[in-house]
Amino acid sequence: MNSVASIFDAFPVDKVRRDFPILSSNVHGKPLVYLDNAASNQKPKPVLDAIQDYYTAQHSNVHRGVHFLSGLATEKYEEARIKVRNYINAGSENEIIFVRGATEAINLAAAVFGKKNLEQGDEVLITELEHHSNIVPWQMICEEKGARLRVAPINDSGEVMLDKFESMLTSNVKIAAISHVSNALGTVNPVKQMIEMAHRKKIPVLVDGAQAMPHLRVDVRDLDADFYVFSSHKVFGPTGIGVLYGKAQLLESLPPYQGGGDMIKSVTFEKTVFNDIPYKFEAGTPHIEGAVGLGAAIDYLNSFDWRIVQDYEQALLKFAEKEISKIDGLKIIGTAKEKAGVISFVMEDIHPHDVGTILDSEGIAIRTGHHCAQPVMERFGIPATARASFAFYNTREEIHALVQSIQKVKEIFAHV
Ligand code: ALA
Repeated sequence: MNSVASIFDAFPVDKVRRDFPILSSNVHGKPLVYLDNAASNQKPKPVLDAIQDYYTAQHSNVHRGVHFLSGLATEKYEEARIKVRNYINAGSENEIIFVRGATEAINLAAAVFGKKNLEQGDEVLITELEHHSNIVPWQMICEEKGARLRVAPINDSGEVMLDKFESMLTSNVKIAAISHVSNALGTVNPVKQMIEMAHRKKIPVLVDGAQAMPHLRVDVRDLDADFYVFSSHKVFGPTGIGVLYGKAQLLESLPPYQGGGDMIKSVTFEKTVFNDIPYKFEAGTPHIEGAVGLGAAIDYLNSFDWRIVQDYEQALLKFAEKEISKIDGLKIIGTAKEKAGVISFVMEDIHPHDVGTILDSEGIAIRTGHHCAQPVMERFGIPATARASFAFYNTREEIHALVQSIQKVKEIFAHV
């Protein structure tokens, strides 16, 4: 077991920070302390360069032209798909569908899986710590099909109660949809174990990996996930693109989501023959430079030794929890044993928005509110939290700045 000091020493955080131009900027005249990484993380230079290069010298439409640039753009787009496939260890690049983000991925999966497989009286099982994007799409398809949305509860630490989850996997459940890491609490769910539980009952599982991908190395085949979704902008890539991974056999069995160009083999007014996967689910001109940028982000992530990154992030999280817990009148919401990169907290008699606004004036970016997880807030009997969320480019000095600024918030409110 490495000592905490050696973990901090092993990760060259100052060098890494230089890869992210925005991190050396000032906000309100103060050095930026960016602790809103769960909302979206910042972009390294190789990603910015890849997007610039794409539009400077490689752009045209994909899968359509016989000319040089169309071929080049197609090559770049499909190369990005292969990079994603390798990064998450999917069985084939045909299992990688480019979408707008994790939200669209879940909407797509819920709509087409539900259309094919849900009937009156069926159930979809989710957990109490889901983001709205892993609740509402299932609610919508359940309503359409007369199916029922069931919710496995969490305990006071913010962990899914596994015995309850398992007992709710009845023969009525047609699919389970669970987050890998909670955006509001930071809880890391034991998804491999949860998938095993569901598979013992022959129930497929969708995993929302939006918050897991920036912190963990994910192997979809090792997890045996049936669907796995994530957003590029949370893995240091551009916004507007994300991934729906699905097992090939499952994807092949499902109807298309949207109709249009590229998702067809042939069209007459009488009949359309749909394209093979993944194109069947990619109607219209895709977000080509987004895929190129995501590919560059994956190359960048592949340049790290992930054991060192994960040790560093965990050490930073523990350090932050220890320092923040020392503040009188502050309570951390979400104390699961396994956590990744998130500290949600409330302060006695001070609204989270006030905390966030005062921190902003100090150059510190955090998120405040319900974090698109209102049922989680309800579970803890609070309207909102202040949330500091970390990436591997954050430092102990930034945690000190956070703690000092929270003390300042307390001082200001002591005189109100
Ligand atoms: N889902 C993102 C968050 O947690 C936007 O902030």
